[in-house]
Amino acid sequence: MHFFFTKIRCSRSRSSHRVGKIYSLLNRFSLIDAATKSTELAINLNTSKPMRQQRIAVLGLGAMGTALALTLLKTGEQLMVWNRTAAKADELRNAGATALPSLAETLDAADVVLLCLVNNEAVHSILKPHRALLQHKMVINLTNGTPGQARQLAGWVQQQNSQYLDGGIMAIPPMIGTEHAFVLYSGDEAAFKASEPFLMHFGKARFMGADAGNAALYDISLLSTMYGMMGGFIHAAALLRRSAIQATAFLPLAKAWIAAMTPSLDLLATQIDSADYQSGVTSNLAMQAAGYENLVATARELNIDPILLLPMERLLQKSLEKGYHAADLSAVIESL
Ligand SMILES: NC(=O)c1ccc[n+]([C@@H]2O[C@H](COP(=O)([O-])OP(=O)(O)OC[C@H]3O[C@@H](n4cnc5c(N)ncnc54)[C@H](OP(=O)(O)O)[C@@H]3O)[C@@H](O)[C@H]2O)c1
Repeated sequence: MHFFFTKIRCSRSRSSHRVGKIYSLLNRFSLIDAATKSTELAINLNTSKPMRQQRIAVLGLGAMGTALALTLLKTGEQLMVWNRTAAKADELRNAGATALPSLAETLDAADVVLLCLVNNEAVHSILKPHRALLQHKMVINLTNGTPGQARQLAGWVQQQNSQYLDGGIMAIPPMIGTEHAFVLYSGDEAAFKASEPFLMHFGKARFMGADAGNAALYDISLLSTMYGMMGGFIHAAALLRRSAIQATAFLPLAKAWIAAMTPSLDLLATQIDSADYQSGVTSNLAMQAAGYENLVATARELNIDPILLLPMERLLQKSLEKGYHAADLSAVIESL
């Protein structure tokens, strides 16, 4: 199969559409040669023209979009950039990216459209007027959103005969391109495999399945875990501030406590999966509910709004009403 693939350089536009069509056909039938896993198009055409790289357009140059674009530029990708507020493209233009005058020209010239906007409403609002230019593209949406939004966008993009990959970035902008970043992807697996060689520059790239909503589902689940931790820390810092104790002074204890408690998630996860909340209990729910009252009472004593604590207090009470006195904390899931 390998020697049938000849790499071509296309003059833009019409030929670009043809290349895209052939490329997506090859992709569909898994004919993209694994050995040519690069950002170059491998086209089954008997021509001796030299090949060209895929043209990637990054749309959305906020903190995250700029970090993604700079990372791609450093790896030598041919990059186009676009932002609603054009001045934000200056840094990237100076770094070697191409900023075409309009979104329409950018979309027309791109093979891969990589989006990183504030939300999916913004994504839809910029793409909708240009749907005709989206034919046979690869659309990679790294905008944070809900699983339902991702599925809707996937359906809409597929109607434009394009491939859709949704992504959840598990990193903050300075982490992009470092070993600590990882990005979750879901949707078109062929699109993932074809783009993995450049996606991996952002951080570890994990494919979470063909359901386009999966990346967002995992992303939101991880963020929910994170906000629980961050919210707890901010509440603790508010308590300590009443005694003029600095958050930075508290930090070593907080980190040690979080690290010590993280392994207890193993038991919670096992109990949740088996719906057996009574096995392996060391801290029963009745005891935890009684202790939790002190968390709320302390906040009130110190004139701190217990707003971050109250939902869990309510869940503990509901669980007791359901008779989960001897169960573990995991039982509160039945009240969600
Ligand atoms: N920053 C992070 O720590 C982080 C981490 C993980 C994931 N993310 C996700 O990455 C995405 C971008 O975040 P960010 O940090 O880059 O945000 P940001 O700095 O606030 O940038 C927002 C971007 O969205 C654009 N935008 C907003 N509304 C628009 C509209 N109606 N039409 C066109 N463009 C619009 C902005 O364009 P203008 O410049 O014209 O306003 C800007 O390019 C978000 O979905 C975010 O959840 C961010």
